[in-house]
Amino acid sequence: MLLQDLLFSFVFLVLSTSLAAASVLVDFQVAQPPLVPKNVKQCTIQILQRDFAFSFGLAEVVQFEPPTDCGPVGSWAAVTLNFTVTSNGTQFDRLGIFTFQNVEIWRTSTPEPTLGGIIWTYVKDVTRYTPLFAKPGTFILQLDNLIETGLNGVYSAVLHATFYSSSPAHPPAPKADLIVPISSLLNNTGNDVSVPPTFSLNVTLPENTVKVFAELYASGNGNEEFWYFNTVNQFLPDLPGGFIGQGPFREVRLQIDGRVAGVAYPYATIFTGGIIPTAWRPITSYGALDLPTYFIDVTPFVPLLTDGNPHNFSLDVTSAEPDHAIQQNWFLSAALQVFLDSSSKPTTGKMTLYSADPFSQTTTTGSVGNNDVNITVTASRALRIESTIVSGSGQVNHVAFTQNLQYSNVQSYLNDAQIQNVLQTATGSVLSTHNGVSVVVDQFSYPLAINITNLDADGSNFTATFDHSYDRDVLPLPIIPRSNIQERQTATGFFSETPNGNFGNGTNNNVFSYIDVAGNTFFRTVNAALNNITLDLQSGSLAPTTTPHLPFAPVQGPLVKPRLPNNRVIPGV
Ligand SMILES: *[C@@H]1O[C@H](CO)[C@@H](O)[C@H](O)[C@H]1NC(C)=O
Ligand SMILES: *[C@@H]1O[C@H](CO)[C@@H](O)[C@H](O)[C@H]1NC(C)=O
Ligand SMILES: *[C@@H]1O[C@H](CO)[C@@H](O)[C@H](O)[C@H]1NC(C)=O
Ligand SMILES: *[C@@H]1O[C@H](CO)[C@@H](O)[C@H](O)[C@H]1NC(C)=O
Ligand SMILES: *[C@@H]1O[C@H](CO)[C@@H](O)[C@H](O)[C@H]1NC(C)=O
Ligand SMILES: *[C@@H]1O[C@H](CO)[C@@H](O)[C@H](O)[C@H]1NC(C)=O
Ligand SMILES: *[C@@H]1O[C@H](CO)[C@@H](O)[C@H](O)[C@H]1NC(C)=O
Ligand SMILES: *[C@@H]1O[C@H](CO)[C@@H](O)[C@H](O)[C@H]1NC(C)=O
Ligand SMILES: *[C@@H]1O[C@H](CO)[C@@H](O)[C@H](O)[C@H]1NC(C)=O
Ligand SMILES: *[C@@H]1O[C@H](CO)[C@@H](O)[C@H](O)[C@H]1NC(C)=O
Repeated sequence: MLLQDLLFSFVFLVLSTSLAAASVLVDFQVAQPPLVPKNVKQCTIQILQRDFAFSFGLAEVVQFEPPTDCGPVGSWAAVTLNFTVTSNGTQFDRLGIFTFQNVEIWRTSTPEPTLGGIIWTYVKDVTRYTPLFAKPGTFILQLDNLIETGLNGVYSAVLHATFYSSSPAHPPAPKADLIVPISSLLNNTGNDVSVPPTFSLNVTLPENTVKVFAELYASGNGNEEFWYFNTVNQFLPDLPGGFIGQGPFREVRLQIDGRVAGVAYPYATIFTGGIIPTAWRPITSYGALDLPTYFIDVTPFVPLLTDGNPHNFSLDVTSAEPDHAIQQNWFLSAALQVFLDSSSKPTTGKMTLYSADPFSQTTTTGSVGNNDVNITVTASRALRIESTIVSGSGQVNHVAFTQNLQYSNVQSYLNDAQIQNVLQTATGSVLSTHNGVSVVVDQFSYPLAINITNLDADGSNFTATFDHSYDRDVLPLPIIPRSNIQERQTATGFFSETPNGNFGNGTNNNVFSYIDVAGNTFFRTVNAALNNITLDLQSGSLAPTTTPHLPFAPVQGPLVKPRLPNNRVIPGV
């Protein structure tokens, strides 16, 4: 786990001026509230409470027992987790990995605290993991924090689960028959694995399996935190020293018995210590509290997987470099949502079409001159896998899974890299049909533009602008309603390192919309400037009926040095 520490090993400076008493800053990520029924009995239990002080390598491990007073165990209409955390002082953002029954069920990160203190609550819909919550088991929260000179922020956390009983009006949530982890299977820490190297696990599925869907968790860490800023190796000699290679393209792959089963072009989650920390207060970068996950229909492999033998499921991340390698390291995990036939007889069938290259098609072009380096990387992938599957009870399912993905990344290092711009977009169309009916859909577009401009030769004063969108029409699994999410976040910030300490400011504007096939809607326009919410408009069927409290905490705490892409070294620090 030492690799995780790389992320935080930068040298930093801390401002220590006397500060007036400040109010507690209420941090949040823009997101739709979870889909839960109103007017049904709820059972809320505390899963864990922990002050994450020096918690590196010391995950919180607790035993979970399902509640029995909200109807039959596992018959709930919905299940949510409420993670509420306070922190005071100075601290980096940290990654949080929630693992339950060896399945990663939520990946989060912590907002960086202020001297006046912060608090945040995120309520996460975990209904799709109901088969896990219906059994006693081990619940693990890995939140590796460090307390050392200049870093005194403790993350004081409490996690509750709420179970919503079902009723005739609110039937039990549909669920898989079992959930199979593709994870480290450790019992004392988060179950994500670090790649490279490729992670492989033997998985034996029940012989009457008829449908399998994989959910992937993936985020870059250390030299891969700002993967979209990494430099194409062939242009490293044209730039000042210290830039990180292996280029900006990343493809997360799930392979089964050595064949690509599906991939993800990931969304670039920016953590709250990223580039300009003050741009992410109190509104975090989108995805920082609830990292997006990716869905692959593995059902076309069912005819091969139902032979009662172990099969090699592997996870890795590749680049557009000739060797396809990445830097250390990405944290990955996956879980299979498995559906069984009513008959116990083995499933049969045949894969009728397999068309997928091992790697995406990529191109790299660039130009160098006049103190500029401009580089463009593109990628695309077309995958199609078809099968006919015959269940033991005689049902025939014609499955077709397709992925058509596109990627482009333009980086400009201008004026001897004093200005660094990235303009990246990943778009794609994922579709799986079972007998012609769509069961997995993912039409996504993740445009990202970041400009970082040094205001002085040594880079100790710089500004950045961010324009980041998450547009996704997604039917992740046949047990979750199809929804359309559109979020655009535009943010700006300034950061200054002076002999007297660090100073920063920022603005953060969001336009968010959520619409699903069940008729639920949520719209929010929310803007912040200098830690202050300046506009907050919420509407739609899921909007809270009371106007939320407007957080206001104008006094800045000490600022840790931000983490920067390409290890932009600030001399003299
Ligand atoms: C979440 O938990 C916190 C701390 O227990 C509590 O104050 C808050 O009301 C809860 N929020 C929701 C929406 O349940
Ligand atoms: C932060 O300070 C507040 C007010 O003094 C206190 O209530 C809270 O427990 C502190 N939180 C942490 C994590 O130290
Ligand atoms: C984790 O715990 C389970 C259940 O007790 C056990 O079967 C498994 O072997 C343990 N795994 C490891 C890596 O110790
Ligand atoms: C999977 O099992 C086979 C034997 O069935 C073994 O040869 C192989 O090494 C195992 N692979 C992994 C990743 O454990
Ligand atoms: C499992 O598949 C991966 C990816 O193809 C491969 O790297 C690994 O060697 C395989 N493991 C075994 C035991 O065959
Ligand atoms: C690099 O791109 C910028 C626009 O971002 C342009 O002004 C400049 O001329 C280009 N330089 C080279 C060497 O292509
Ligand atoms: C940021 O860089 C992109 C790509 O070069 C450019 O299109 C955009 O105009 C720049 N924005 C600002 C504010 O400089
Ligand atoms: C950075 O900006 C600060 C003002 O915020 C100024 O005091 C300092 O001199 C600047 N540093 C450099 C190297 O220009
Ligand atoms: C942030 O600070 C810089 C430097 O003092 C200033 O130019 C800029 O206007 C400030 N931004 C905001 C939003 O106040
Ligand atoms: C904070 O925003 C409110 C509007 O919501 C505004 O009235 C107030 O002046 C702002 N305060 C600061 C310090 O910017």
